[in-house]
Amino acid sequence: MIISSPSDYREAARRKLPPFLFHYIDGGAYAEQTLRRNVEDWQSIALRQRVLQDMTSLSLETKLFDETLRLPIILGPVGLTGMYARRGEVQAAKAAASRGVPFTMSTVSVCPIEEVAPAIDRPMWFQLYVLRDRGFMKNALERARAAGVKTLVFTVDMPTPGARYRDAHSGMSGPNAEIRRMVQAMTHPAWAWDVGVRGTPHDLGNVSAYLGKPTGLADYIGWLANNFDPSISWKDLQWIRDFWDGPMIIKGILDPQDARDAVSFGADGIVVSNHGGRQLDGVLSSACALPAIADAVKGELKILVDSGIRNGLDVVRAIALGADAVLLGRAFIYALAANGQAGVENLLDLFEKEMRVAMTLTGAKSVAGMTREMLAI
Ligand code: FNR
Repeated sequence: MIISSPSDYREAARRKLPPFLFHYIDGGAYAEQTLRRNVEDWQSIALRQRVLQDMTSLSLETKLFDETLRLPIILGPVGLTGMYARRGEVQAAKAAASRGVPFTMSTVSVCPIEEVAPAIDRPMWFQLYVLRDRGFMKNALERARAAGVKTLVFTVDMPTPGARYRDAHSGMSGPNAEIRRMVQAMTHPAWAWDVGVRGTPHDLGNVSAYLGKPTGLADYIGWLANNFDPSISWKDLQWIRDFWDGPMIIKGILDPQDARDAVSFGADGIVVSNHGGRQLDGVLSSACALPAIADAVKGELKILVDSGIRNGLDVVRAIALGADAVLLGRAFIYALAANGQAGVENLLDLFEKEMRVAMTLTGAKSVAGMTREMLAI
């Protein structure tokens, strides 16, 4: 199919992936209201068109924690990325590096830290979940540090999993999920080559490195189900702060009070996020939550945002509302599933082109120049 816009990749991914995987990526929690609003609310923000401003030289470069980003974009953490394309984390990380932006590895990746970090020439970011098994967390942090990771993204909006009803329908979760999943995987021609090369179940790199044995999806789901920790509070994060000397970003902030608490805690950044509408349905979209959070903490730490960002115009809107940069989730995963590394590279190029046009027609010459003045709200 012809790919001409970022949104084409969703359809391309739908055609390529077995349904249970496409819906795992595409779906959200409960009635998916927040998932839909995430996308709609960015798009409903009107930009002010400005003309005759001599826009010959534009810069999209930005600095975050001593790192230069060619675009104010980071590939965010997405679990099981290596299931959507062969060695998917490596392909996505290479695409990000080739376009001068960071890649964030999820705790629950198919490729282990030690495979991805040396494959690229810039430090990757690493995302960690709060888990009951603190030994796993410490092991992951030590391995990330040894592999040259500097920036840690600590996800706090999953003390308990949100119900994703699409997964129950597709066979991704629920009774006998593993059996159904493997049957689908083995029988789907586009997929069989990767998921279980001649019947070998996928191995989850970071989890199996810790458990010391190959970890298929069934083991992983069992391990994770027993590992959510609803008791977590700010004081539990202190040992990570003490252990991690690089930048620490708290992901999953949706309220100005929590953003203030992140400042008091000593976080270097936050990600304003509702986990792409995959956790608590009915909460504010990121576009709605961001302005009050920016008013509360702008300048005291870096403000990143994700959830519903689907094109270059959304990135411009997010930065104009107060973000320093954005994380992509589904947008890059669809492209990865559709066409691997080349798909993600093309997606980032499309985002860049859209951002340049938006800048030219709003009068913003740099990332710092994107302010609320650009918005007709
Ligand atoms: C995620 N997300 C996520 N976040 C995280 O901190 N660790 C993880 O392992 C995952 N895994 C994951 C899997 C899938 C399939 C998706 C779609 C998302 C959330 C992700 O980092 C990000 O917050 C959202 O994807 C942003 O929303 P959009 O842009 O996808 O709408």
